[in-house]
Amino acid sequence: MNQRAIGIFDSGVGGLTVLKEVEKLLPNENIIYFGDTARVPYGNKSKSTIIKFSTESALFLLKKNVKAVVVACNTSTSFALDHLEGIFNIPIVGVINAGVEKALSVSRKKKIGVIGTKATIASNSYQRKIHSKDKKMMVYQQDCPLFVPLVEEGLLRGKIAEQVIDMYLKKFKTAGVDTVILGCTHYPLLKNEIAKYLKGAFIVDSAKEVARYVKGVLCEEGLLNDKKRKGKTNFFVTDEPQSFVRSARLFLNRKISNPEVVNV
Ligand code: DGL
Repeated sequence: MNQRAIGIFDSGVGGLTVLKEVEKLLPNENIIYFGDTARVPYGNKSKSTIIKFSTESALFLLKKNVKAVVVACNTSTSFALDHLEGIFNIPIVGVINAGVEKALSVSRKKKIGVIGTKATIASNSYQRKIHSKDKKMMVYQQDCPLFVPLVEEGLLRGKIAEQVIDMYLKKFKTAGVDTVILGCTHYPLLKNEIAKYLKGAFIVDSAKEVARYVKGVLCEEGLLNDKKRKGKTNFFVTDEPQSFVRSARLFLNRKISNPEVVNV
């Protein structure tokens, strides 16, 4: 069981931020990454569609015999995590709990900002989770739909990035939020610019936090791979692989070989 792979799925390429952190923290693990590139983005779709796509993605990984599934996509976690936990009997780890726990532990002023896709923000998933732990926490939410294309175009700094960040995050500045949760797979690539704009605020990188969480879960369940050699990562996508390979360079700082194209 321990040598089976960890499955990670996302709507597309963004979940590679999660993959990168999981590889860093758990270098001996084998990983199967599934990116639903034919149907990305999930962030502007309806709840039922997001649940359907997420379930199909998770099922693909289950058929590959993974020992745990990481839902790297914040939009999928927001809408489909409970559903997936209900139907599968292996550990399913979403990105929200980990980010929220970190934010609660660092916020001193009790003012947390949450950013994500339109769907994630509309779902109130982060706010609900935060308030289930601390009712007094002030939560400021903002959807940032332009951040995903900005990142995928490699516009990680400079005038355009600065203007878009100012447009979305001005209200966080005015409100004096001291902690911001990056509630979308792509946003860790904008972390430095966001930190520069919101001087002094703690930026919670959900990808880093979820990697720690995954390690904890595998440890608890006795599922850590005890082999000492470096693990292998295999990639699967649902549409042509070229743009995925191109983006992977940006997200992972390394070249990956062509992923296998599959239908779900
Ligand atoms: N992976 C999505 C998320 O983290 C962003 C891209 C999309 O909209 O599908 O919410």
